[in-house]
Amino acid sequence: FVVNWNAEAAEKGGFEHFMLKEIYEQPKALRDTMTSRLDAAAKTIGFPELNWTAEELREINKIFIVACGTAYHAGIVGKYYLEQLARVPVEVDIASEFRYRDPLVDGNSLTIVISQSGETSDTLAALREAKRLGSRTLAVTNVVGSSIAREADQVVYTYAGPEIAVASTKAYTTQLLAMLMLAIYVGRLRGSMSAEREQELVRGLTFVPEQIHKMLENVDQIKVFAREYGSSEDAFFLGRSLDYAVALEGALKLKEISYIHAEAYAAGELKHGTLALIVSGVPVIVLATQMDVYDKTVSNLQEVKAREAVVIAIGFEGDTSLEKYADHVIYIPRTDKYLAPLMAVLPLQLLAYYAALTRGCDVDKPRNLAKSVTVE
Ligand code: AGP
Repeated sequence: FVVNWNAEAAEKGGFEHFMLKEIYEQPKALRDTMTSRLDAAAKTIGFPELNWTAEELREINKIFIVACGTAYHAGIVGKYYLEQLARVPVEVDIASEFRYRDPLVDGNSLTIVISQSGETSDTLAALREAKRLGSRTLAVTNVVGSSIAREADQVVYTYAGPEIAVASTKAYTTQLLAMLMLAIYVGRLRGSMSAEREQELVRGLTFVPEQIHKMLENVDQIKVFAREYGSSEDAFFLGRSLDYAVALEGALKLKEISYIHAEAYAAGELKHGTLALIVSGVPVIVLATQMDVYDKTVSNLQEVKAREAVVIAIGFEGDTSLEKYADHVIYIPRTDKYLAPLMAVLPLQLLAYYAALTRGCDVDKPRNLAKSVTVE
């Protein structure tokens, strides 16, 4: 038994669970995914593995992003990146929906399928459907030689390393990074990205691994919140714009490993239903990193506070005004709006992890779930 324990412990790098190990591997995973594509000196992004010409990219008049679960959430963030930085219309679909809805895909489409494992059956089937309809296809995946990698026209690998825990963490953040770099790359080739803006984003990216490393050095406050609210049966995640996209991932993390009924909502949507569920003591996590919708987000925060919810806000360091409205504030390093998702998701991953521990759940192997869903 002692030998097994040592082998097991060594496999987890001394961490109690693979999920925690993989959360802490994110700085390295991001650095490894950046390395071959980010020219720090020239402050530009390149993809040596992609062989599109600028002409071919200009022919694309619509991008479809198709994935499942966490990868789907990365796709939603990718939509903001590609539409705002590369100015291409983007539709994001859950793979099991895409493959049966007779999508308007054609030879001028690019279909990007995102899959950590590269074996998810719905995503593989969606890839095949997109190819049948004549679309160019690109896979963003973490497993070299996976079925999806082999069948897509082109592949952008995330270099997160093997992800063992069922709950995806480092694969998600490297997928966000891949989508951001792709948006910058496509934007430049299509002439919609200024050199200055590219340099600004690339410069910001070079600091992200170290900023995340620093965040991970002090998680005590998050452990306290997880213990204090881990017994709740419901939890809500609110945000607008990119904060909403990250809220979706935060809710899935909490739901799938702690079994708390967590729900993410676009903060502006509260009045259209969810507010009916906000009662005294219910924990609501509000992400407030997107400054162009900040005031609206704060007013939504006040709405739930007025119903006596317990509000944990996620905001930028220095934004102490949030303390006027929220019960607690978790600060993340101030950064570019497009880089904020890479950091805002960290506290949400850790909240889910410690809440699951508090509830005695099997963190790495949550009930009913598999790491790769290779059946329909
Ligand atoms: C995420 O934490 C889950 N494990 C699950 O939603 C997962 O993201 C989904 O099954 C997609 O897997 P893939 O990225 O390997 O295709």
